[in-house]
Amino acid sequence: MKTIVILISGRGSNLLAILEARLPLTVAAVISNEPQAGGLATAKQHGIPTRVVDHRLHRERSTFDEALSAEIDVFKPDLVVLAGFMRILSAAFVGRYRGRLINIHPSLLPAFTGLHTHRRALAAGVKLHGCTVHFVTPELDHGPIVIQAAVPVMEGDSEQSLAARVLAEEHRVYPQAVRWFCEDRLNITPQGLVTLKAAQAASGALVSPPRDS
Ligand code: GRF
Repeated sequence: MKTIVILISGRGSNLLAILEARLPLTVAAVISNEPQAGGLATAKQHGIPTRVVDHRLHRERSTFDEALSAEIDVFKPDLVVLAGFMRILSAAFVGRYRGRLINIHPSLLPAFTGLHTHRRALAAGVKLHGCTVHFVTPELDHGPIVIQAAVPVMEGDSEQSLAARVLAEEHRVYPQAVRWFCEDRLNITPQGLVTLKAAQAASGALVSPPRDS
């Protein structure tokens, strides 16, 4: 059975979704850079060891990253899962966990990398928005895409209503991606694309606004 470590900075709803999916894996630890992160309590309620590596105690990004990897490596994880972890990681850190570090981003990458994705999606007038699970590479919010979910953008949506619609999908696709990794079903091609062993064929299309029938 594979072992994972989950890194968080905030409320930890994706962490909870992964825990509630009851995946065949061991969550060895939840590590936060924020001592007040709500997800730490969620982890404790599930009997999972927690650690805090406070970035404010490190003047350099490199020493924070070293302290973080020292904590992670104690648990010898097969996979490190970024679940709302809001620190930019150095190339050295990303290289250390190459091929075993994944992130969820609240947009349909490569659109809207970075922050405030829902606000920017509304401003751009896109009709479909969503979320992406991807392997982490040194370039922020790039890296091989594992799975995406798209949602319609509705007229009258606020940043909050759109974020909530996307978040519900995050909670579906992140456990799925973690499961695939732990089942050894994900392969990264030399071109940097993810292939899924024994994938089901995708069917249908999400069209927004819907076509007139
Ligand atoms: C999610 O929207 C995730 O995509 C983004 O940060 C948010 C974290 O939410 N990276 P939570 O802490 O998992 O509730």
